[in-house]
Amino acid sequence: MKIINVVGARPNFMKMAPIIEAMRSYPDHFQHLLVHTGQHYDEKMSESFFVDLGMPTPDINLGVGSGSHAEQTARIMVEFEKICLREKPQLVIVVGDVNSTMACTITAKKLGIKVAHVEAGLRSRDMSMPEEINRLCTDVLCDYLFTTDHFADENLAAEGVPADKIFFVGNVMIDTLLKHRAMAATLDLGRQLGLAPQGYATLTMHRPGNVDDKNVLTGILEALAEIAREIPIVFPIHPRTRKMAGQFGLDGFFSTGPKVQGLWITAPLGYLEFLHLNMNARFVLTDSGGLQEETTVLGIPCITMRPNTERPITCEVGSNTLVGNSKEKILEQAHRILNGEIPRGLVPEKWDGHAAERIIQVLLEKPC
Ligand code: UD1
Repeated sequence: MKIINVVGARPNFMKMAPIIEAMRSYPDHFQHLLVHTGQHYDEKMSESFFVDLGMPTPDINLGVGSGSHAEQTARIMVEFEKICLREKPQLVIVVGDVNSTMACTITAKKLGIKVAHVEAGLRSRDMSMPEEINRLCTDVLCDYLFTTDHFADENLAAEGVPADKIFFVGNVMIDTLLKHRAMAATLDLGRQLGLAPQGYATLTMHRPGNVDDKNVLTGILEALAEIAREIPIVFPIHPRTRKMAGQFGLDGFFSTGPKVQGLWITAPLGYLEFLHLNMNARFVLTDSGGLQEETTVLGIPCITMRPNTERPITCEVGSNTLVGNSKEKILEQAHRILNGEIPRGLVPEKWDGHAAERIIQVLLEKPC
């Protein structure tokens, strides 16, 4: 079976790595190409992940870069169509919910190529999130829908997806986490930065809903600055957030350089470095999707600065709490944790390091 595997943005890389690895065990069955759309292009948002994850260099890079959603999506479609016409794959595999995921799905499907979506069925029910639109458009078109939990299966069934297209396989991002956990533990980064285990928190924040509005971003930064008076917060800042904070004149909230109390920004970190910092953190503050899942498996309390989540399993069984973007709620939950109230975390079913193998078994048993 000839397959094109698609990646585009940072959260895609750790999802695709175990799929490629599992595919390589069956060289007689799978001929595969890796296409990087180039949605993320900074070294620290892209290349460094390929090195950390031991991923092959992409066979093709479409080099689309940034732009408005329409521009970025359109550029990916135009370039990906040429690749599909030239390579004639039988299957395209997409992961996650970024613009590259949706753009490549629509392109392949219109050429009559089958598409598999890994991490299908997640729903935030929040149409102001570009990712929700990407998820809906992708899932309605796909032929194989690989899911991470029972909520996703139920969402797809409720939308009328036939049961024989839905495969509950577990979580490929957790395959990657479990594979690299021991290696990340050996890093010396925390000590080099003067951060004692449990003596700091980590932060990621880049959602348009949190960073594109000056008042919202100011409120969140005020809350974070207050928490940072009690415990240092390490913030590997996303390019979008850096740009918006600069435009709004909010750089005064940030400090740079190690061993300072405060909201300490660093450049985006590599996969292993960030895993190392998260494993040893007292808690994690985030608006990302994947980190809600990673902290659930690590058993680290997670404060999610969003009003909703497409990953409710992390709140149902895991260590995640949703607090929205109100200053009071963010502070309240941080103080609960600092006062020793730790949410108990269980690991969801099939988040066991073998999701990619299950995907490959499905493709072997039901080839297209
Ligand atoms: C994208 C995904 C989001 C994911 C996030 C992870 C969509 C709709 N969003 O958001 O779901 O959580 O990636 O990081 O696909 N930029 C750089 N260098 C880069 C990439 C981006 O400087 O390598 C800057 C540019 O100014 C760009 C902005 O970041 O305009 C936004 O990039 P974009 O790819 O549109 O979306 P993200 O916010 O990264």
